[in-house]
Amino acid sequence: MAASGSAAPRAVAARPAGALSGTLAVPGDKSISHRALMLGGLAVGPTRITGLLLGVDVRATAAAMAALGAEIDAGDDAWTVYGRGVGGLTEPADVLDLGNSGTSARLLLGLIAGHAVTAFVTGDASLRRRPMQRVIDPLQQVGARFLTRSGGRLPLAVTGAREPMAIRYDLPVASAQVKSAVLLAGLNAMGETAVTEPQDTRDHTERMLRAFGAEVAVARDESGRRVTRLTGQPELTGQAVTVPGDPSSAAFPLVAALLVPGSAVRLPGVGMNPHRTGLFTTLREMGADLGIENAREQAGEPVADLVARAGPLQGVTVPAERAPAMIDEYPVLAVAAACAEGRTVMHGVGELRVKESDRLSGIAEGLRACGVTVESGEDWLAVTGQGAPPPGGATIATQLDHRIAMAFLVLGLVARGGVTVDDAGPIETSFPDFVAAMRGLGADIAELS
Ligand code: S3P
Repeated sequence: MAASGSAAPRAVAARPAGALSGTLAVPGDKSISHRALMLGGLAVGPTRITGLLLGVDVRATAAAMAALGAEIDAGDDAWTVYGRGVGGLTEPADVLDLGNSGTSARLLLGLIAGHAVTAFVTGDASLRRRPMQRVIDPLQQVGARFLTRSGGRLPLAVTGAREPMAIRYDLPVASAQVKSAVLLAGLNAMGETAVTEPQDTRDHTERMLRAFGAEVAVARDESGRRVTRLTGQPELTGQAVTVPGDPSSAAFPLVAALLVPGSAVRLPGVGMNPHRTGLFTTLREMGADLGIENAREQAGEPVADLVARAGPLQGVTVPAERAPAMIDEYPVLAVAAACAEGRTVMHGVGELRVKESDRLSGIAEGLRACGVTVESGEDWLAVTGQGAPPPGGATIATQLDHRIAMAFLVLGLVARGGVTVDDAGPIETSFPDFVAAMRGLGADIAELS
């Protein structure tokens, strides 16, 4: 089945039951999984990846890398990628269908821009709505040519540059995907590619590029903005990559454990990259009983075990500067805020409008349907909780958005009338065993037949 093939919608309902307890190993980090497959495909020698996320999004990247000439062996314990070397990707024989995955689309466009190949790229209805102009602009400067639908949307055709140019690029939006696309294009350019960010975003690409042998220097400019410089045409060498648990996936059982009375849940081996941990900081400010234990380093990324215990939460103000470090966590933070005492204001969240769905509207409409007071503006959201779960009882339209689906199922575990999501299918993109894993902790979540 193509990654964007549409299966029949699967309605799933969550209802309050007893306390949640136990240990849950969350699936591998989605961002790091994509990057391991891509850099493995550009390296010389095998890259062995353990803990790879086996979600639909990452499988779309694997299929695309195979179509671009990498050899990928899916083993039981580990996946192995045999790369083509920097500059060695070959022309795909068919359309690359990247399903729901914005990270696959934007990062692969960067890779392709640095190779003299032509590719046709598409995705599902959600991905075909999302903005690609933000990567097309810098990649045209590198020398790639694009033919797109209006507004720079997918499907598009890209012809990469025969002699890619090393560029200096000031990101107009704080986006790790755009930064990574420019750096990946710069791999096959002669000279130094430099990217300046308006706010720091996740740095998994930079960390992994270094681990594979590239020269990457990071500094601050006179305004304090981070500048990442990559020396082009490195020899990348295949590595052993251990993918940590995804903090963005851990967020769902973690918030569930904080909200369901009497719960105590341990989540071992979760990635603690400081550009990903904004939710944990915010929840602690709200008064959450959230322990961070056994902090350690694993293959160049910090990890720790998280222990969450239920207790009361208070509303807080979340500053705009924190948004990039928790950009995927606002749906579940809003659910926590709906149960907290008082008003939680989230600033600088305009980017939520261009995620897998318009999450600002999705969160606001879904919470209102569950009886929660919500206010929102162009780039802010305020949720007022009563210090107790809201009534619930609604059916939420997930709009092909895995995180909207999981966040509202978490709300259903405490909302008096439960919550139904109209389609849990999108959860396969990032947390394939979510329902079973939550049931393993004692949650009452069931498919409606
Ligand atoms: C990602 C970066 C973020 C995030 C996405 C994954 C990545 O997007 O929302 O889920 O892997 O680089 P932006 O960089 O567009 O904000």
